[in-house]
Amino acid sequence: MKRGLLLAGVCAGLLGAFAQAEDGYDLWLRYRPLDKQALVQTRPLASAIVATGTSPTALLARDELVRGLSGMLARRETVSAAVHGNGDILIGTPASSPEIAKLGLPLDKAGDEGFVIRSVTLKGKRLTVIAANSDAGTLHGAFAFLRLMQTRAPLEHLDVVSAPKIKLRMLDHWDNVDRTIERGFSGFSIFNWWELPGHLSPQYKDYARANASLGLNATVLNNPSGVSNAVVLTKPWLEKTAAMAKLLRPYGIKVYLSVMFSSPVEVGGLKTSDPLDPAVRQWWKDKADEIYRIIPDFGGFLVKANSEGMPGPQDYGRSHADGANMMADALAPHGGVVLWRAFVYSPKLEDRVKQAYSEFKPLDGSFRDNVIVQVKNGPLDFQPREPFSPLFGGLSRTNTGMEFQITKEYLGFEIHLVYLGSLWQEVLRSDTFAKGQGSAVARVIDGSLFHRPLTSIAGASNIGTAHNWSGSIFDQANWYAYGRLAWDPDLDSKKIAEEWTKQTFTPNPAFVTPVVKMMMGSREAAVDYMTPMGLAHQMATSHHYGPGPWINDAGRPDWNPVYYNRADHDGIGVDRTISGSNAVEQYAAPLAVRFSDAAQTPETLLLWFHHLPWSYRLASGATLWDGFIRHYDHGVDAVAQMQAAWAGLKPYVDDERFQITADFLAMQKENAELWRDASIAYFQSVSGLPLPAGVLPPNHPLSFYQQMRLPFAPGAPGKTAAPFRDD
Ligand code: GCU
Repeated sequence: MKRGLLLAGVCAGLLGAFAQAEDGYDLWLRYRPLDKQALVQTRPLASAIVATGTSPTALLARDELVRGLSGMLARRETVSAAVHGNGDILIGTPASSPEIAKLGLPLDKAGDEGFVIRSVTLKGKRLTVIAANSDAGTLHGAFAFLRLMQTRAPLEHLDVVSAPKIKLRMLDHWDNVDRTIERGFSGFSIFNWWELPGHLSPQYKDYARANASLGLNATVLNNPSGVSNAVVLTKPWLEKTAAMAKLLRPYGIKVYLSVMFSSPVEVGGLKTSDPLDPAVRQWWKDKADEIYRIIPDFGGFLVKANSEGMPGPQDYGRSHADGANMMADALAPHGGVVLWRAFVYSPKLEDRVKQAYSEFKPLDGSFRDNVIVQVKNGPLDFQPREPFSPLFGGLSRTNTGMEFQITKEYLGFEIHLVYLGSLWQEVLRSDTFAKGQGSAVARVIDGSLFHRPLTSIAGASNIGTAHNWSGSIFDQANWYAYGRLAWDPDLDSKKIAEEWTKQTFTPNPAFVTPVVKMMMGSREAAVDYMTPMGLAHQMATSHHYGPGPWINDAGRPDWNPVYYNRADHDGIGVDRTISGSNAVEQYAAPLAVRFSDAAQTPETLLLWFHHLPWSYRLASGATLWDGFIRHYDHGVDAVAQMQAAWAGLKPYVDDERFQITADFLAMQKENAELWRDASIAYFQSVSGLPLPAGVLPPNHPLSFYQQMRLPFAPGAPGKTAAPFRDD
């Protein structure tokens, strides 16, 4: 019998697109034809798509299946309204499909946005069913099924039930309305505000597809540090936002805006933004009403207040809770949420890493139910390694959201290959001990530890106008890993790396195994050549890319590398025990005890918590000085190994994606050597210690160190190094 409608036009266009050379634009949604053997196995299991839903979201789910199957099965895919034969793929909700309603699927476990994928028998036919309680769930299910196909998972006996563990899974853009991007390394913002609302770039749909494929359901369109943010609350700009919201809605994604605390003054014509002033409170209420008239499902506000010069409630002697609650009250009647960032510090003498906790812990319990305090993963600022922020576990009566940074501000920009899945997994699995053993950070942010229904996770995006979106191919993996962990913070970062590699390049194990090995070692390599053993922020304070310069500004708590390393003739590291800043006391008792004792502190965090003599003996028996230098060497060696491994993988990769990665690895290798040499030279100059046997003296010309304003002359001039770029 003849099957239903054929989406011939769409498919022909798509198949045409597949013939193009690979440049990374297709991300992990490439849907390239399966090899012969997989085709033979898979075709009978995916003979036709049976889709009954008619909403825009249901149609997107159907079209994605058509697109994916057409590509992978190298044939024109058909769609029908009823099950006909073995191998049909039935997609829908109990409401759209009576057949799905009768199957007795465990949809109670799928929630509002999750899905069930199951191999079933219906009227004697073997089918695969993709079912959900909502159309957004079917879209997520369609992407999940395509992921299974792309990663060559066996499709015969599927039994998947998946629901997101975190409610708001947000991509935060640090995009300014003029299209520059704060800490963006992949071109300009993809959001062209000048053309909105009249013209919607076709790229927005690909952006939405990529996010929906990961189950992300929220996007903050503009930079929370943007000084021009007040403008986004004016009517013309709200209409621009409304156009984006309309486009993103069918993909299950809501829009949020970063707003300036001082908006009542900046665009409201008021004389004050005092959160306890009735006129100010009314202004925010009226503004919220206006927004929801234009965007009925608007998500809410992201706010950076009294942080790095941004205005906030403290300007009026009020607290963060006063400010956040005022906005929350305005949004509450409409179901909106305030994400209030806890990234605060000021140039006072208190240890910077203590400041967010010091300000927010006393406010615990005083925020409204629709406020989320959004906390960076560590207490400092997205360093290659930090302990988790003690606000996770510290705030038990406040919704506490996670903020990760996908853009690699402190990890080599788009140039260095650093897979962040391992960093995030380390944070998510850290035990806060807030309610005894088993109180992992992941349990705080999924709400289960403190029974909080409103939960969130945010990632500062790394995408821009670069044709490959993220500036480098391997930085796409960080967008991907973030989204996967946002859906399920318990996923394994290595499995995520495998998934990504198979979909982005090829499932061939000869390629996947070495690439995943590179990815899994890459974060530790960066830690080692930049900031080993718990050191932090040795980056030049202006660009955050390269090392130093190490300048001590005579006792001022200036945020420079010397402030963070405290290295001198006798030792190195920051004493954060009771004899120092006592930051350890911000952690729950078992951790505070452990971190107070150098012998019990993991070597990875040793210098974060302790100032130790250079002669301190590490667990390995080596002195701190020798061990420290070995870490730098290991970092450089690991990059050299990545470079060699990648060179051997050329046969498996198209030219363009091979070359950009090879070029960047060569730069990373040179940069890693610079990091090592400059760091060792500096620490040698302050410690006066000799280099351990076998370690070559720094090999870069004097001019390089002069450029970094180092107060000494290193060894003999060697090869010329490219200077670090200034961002
Ligand atoms: C870092 C970063 C800033 C950013 C800030 C933030 O300090 O360097 O550019 O604005 O984080 O998270 O707000």
